[in-house]
Amino acid sequence: MSHIVKSRLTQAQLDAHWMAYTGNRQFKKDPRIIVSAEGRYYTDLDGRKIFDGLSGLWTCGLGHSVPSINEAVANQVKTLDYSPAFQFGHEKSFLLAEKISEFMPSGLNRIFFTGSGSESVDTALKVARAYWRKKGMGTKTKFIGRAKGYHGAGISGFSVGGIPANRTLYGQGLESYHLPHTQVPGSEFSKGMADIGKERADELLNLITMHDASNIAAVIVEPMSGSGGVIIPPKGYLQRLREICDQHNILLIFDEVITAFGRMGAQTGSEAFGVIPDAITMAKQVTNGVIPMGAVAFKQEIYDTFMDNGGPDYMLEIPHGYTYSAHPIACAAGLASLEEIKQQNLIARVKDMSPVWENCVHQLRDANPIITDIRNYGFAAGITIAPVDGEPSKRPFQIAMSMWDKGYYVRYGADTIQLAPPFATEKAEMDSLINALGDSLQEQNQ
Ligand SMILES: Cc1ncc(COP(=O)(O)O)c(C=O)c1O
Repeated sequence: MSHIVKSRLTQAQLDAHWMAYTGNRQFKKDPRIIVSAEGRYYTDLDGRKIFDGLSGLWTCGLGHSVPSINEAVANQVKTLDYSPAFQFGHEKSFLLAEKISEFMPSGLNRIFFTGSGSESVDTALKVARAYWRKKGMGTKTKFIGRAKGYHGAGISGFSVGGIPANRTLYGQGLESYHLPHTQVPGSEFSKGMADIGKERADELLNLITMHDASNIAAVIVEPMSGSGGVIIPPKGYLQRLREICDQHNILLIFDEVITAFGRMGAQTGSEAFGVIPDAITMAKQVTNGVIPMGAVAFKQEIYDTFMDNGGPDYMLEIPHGYTYSAHPIACAAGLASLEEIKQQNLIARVKDMSPVWENCVHQLRDANPIITDIRNYGFAAGITIAPVDGEPSKRPFQIAMSMWDKGYYVRYGADTIQLAPPFATEKAEMDSLINALGDSLQEQNQ
């Protein structure tokens, strides 16, 4: 379908913006321009309403243009638009840190603010190395990530990340090794957590044998991998990782940039899957995507280690941070967003509605033989599409474009379509999203 108004921009204006994680040449031939958003819908240049099937980029679980967040941001801009992040403070960062701790598992109550998920990952990894050095174990510097993991676009993130396309162009990164992913043959079409695959955690023992725990700082995994294709941990898998990390004195970091604050029908992935890590990275939903912000929650013992070994008290305990750490406008947006999640009782709603979502997405299987796997948890789903012409990412791209034409925004990445509707999505909206997706899948057979 060709849109009535492709763009009001000139070709030169389109060319001036080198777009992130976008096929720039294709986009600029056929721009998909969003002009506004409200509730669970975008509006494009043609005035079409488009359902937000990924809550922005896993950011906007509350939907768009939430009055309390808008108001908090507007008031904050008028009162304190910026405040130096180093050596001076403003009240809202402390209030937000306390509020974030209430969402974190018990003991993860020391919050370091960043500007994004990538910076949160960088922060967690730097703190892990520095922590061991402070404890007199400075050889513990290597990191273990996981195949298909995504930990942001920084050099540290791509190093521990395990999506091949994100790594191949960039040469050497941090010294990192990778666990296998947990999409185990035989677990396809599992609803929620698969019964098989836990043993893949034992690969950590082999990596420890190879590199020795005295050289390993931390293991970092997403409790549920989002960008890698919505990969749900098998039953017992995260527990086994925790056990091995404990036995070998290795920190366990959960990258919860997608899973924190409700997406799993729990406050965190840690709560959903019943495993408490040593640090949790977060971003996205903390401000409902309205203003960039990230954070890392650390166990108190990690924080105390820096405080107890910080030298004279006018000295920095850790020389680390960002100009936009704890930005006052982001803090105002964060306070309003987390309050809204609580007030609307949305985490319980996601949990209660998850079985409805699960049934809905798994219905796609029967009519669509090109689907090779469907995975789901909370308000998230990943659908794997069989490759065509030896190109795994071609069909997901075509399907996502067809969905856009039908009035639905979904994410495509590698061989998957990813779905993550806003937390208050109604059953009728789920049905219409999945029906449209069924139609777009059928077009692949024609
Ligand atoms: C698990 C995870 N970690 C880190 C990031 C990077 O976050 P950002 O894009 O805000 O830097 C993402 C982004 O999707 C993510 O999903």
